[in-house]
Amino acid sequence: MIETITELQRLRACILGWRREGLRIGFVPTMGNLHAGHYSLVALARKHADRVISSVFVNPTQFGPNEDFTRYPRTPEADTSGLEAAGCDALWLPTVESMYPFGVDLAVRMRVPGVADVLEGAHRPGHFDGVCTVVARLLNQVQPDVAAFGKKDFQQVAVIQQMVTDLAYPLTLLRGEIVREPDGLAMSSRNQYLTPEDRVVAAEIHRTLQAMRERLQAGATRAVVEAEGEQRLAQVGFAVDYAAVRAPDLSEPDDAPGPRVVLIAARLGRTRLIDNLEFTLG
Ligand code: PAJ
Repeated sequence: MIETITELQRLRACILGWRREGLRIGFVPTMGNLHAGHYSLVALARKHADRVISSVFVNPTQFGPNEDFTRYPRTPEADTSGLEAAGCDALWLPTVESMYPFGVDLAVRMRVPGVADVLEGAHRPGHFDGVCTVVARLLNQVQPDVAAFGKKDFQQVAVIQQMVTDLAYPLTLLRGEIVREPDGLAMSSRNQYLTPEDRVVAAEIHRTLQAMRERLQAGATRAVVEAEGEQRLAQVGFAVDYAAVRAPDLSEPDDAPGPRVVLIAARLGRTRLIDNLEFTLG
């Protein structure tokens, strides 16, 4: 049986109990409305830990004023049974009041310079401050040995890794592979906002990432490939935030061989989708 925990005191007692038994603790933070992508992180954490705890918390500080905080889908019953089936031992459900005891406006905030300022950071000002603000709190509450994050949010893992290294958190980050729908669309809680017509178009993101990779492998320059990617998405109806070719640290690479990631953020109506693809430029 999965144990659902709503009090910080009870969370601490649970963690202490596991520690006294000498067990390794794995952690999977989420915002709920869970799908196979989230459950794959539970499985990954399980490989590296004896007990896995997941959190569900829709974090107000990482949503912009015109973003979907209030309409973000909340499905607590399905999440609980799904986590249990995925082999999760405990579910941490903080309230906004317990997470931000002095209120959201007076919260101590994290800021990661550099890697958090580009791409998503440039298009969603303050987003990563909010992510790091809540992840720092969650890590202090749970104190895990390993924490699993999905490569779907490639930049998020890079930002959190910088925070964890810089603040010397005693833990290892695990990076889970992107779980996709059969047509290639990366699973996301936001996919359900799409109209049936837009849902078909959304699969074009993954195909565009693959096309960008192929063009780079064929010798096209970064600037050309980025422009082509943007154009391809715009043609089928996306409002494109970026279609970018980057080094794994998200700096802008020259055209020499080496590891690359192509990243897309694009909107269909009010729904904003992100995805990425890693490869080595040969
Ligand atoms: P959320 O969007 O719920 O995602 C929780 C975790 O699941 C993240 O690490 C995300 O990268 C991963 N994930 C989402 N879709 C995935 C997919 N298709 N394949 C693999 N992994 C996937 O990311 C957040 O919540 C929040 O920012 C959080 C870190 C919890 C802080 O509030």
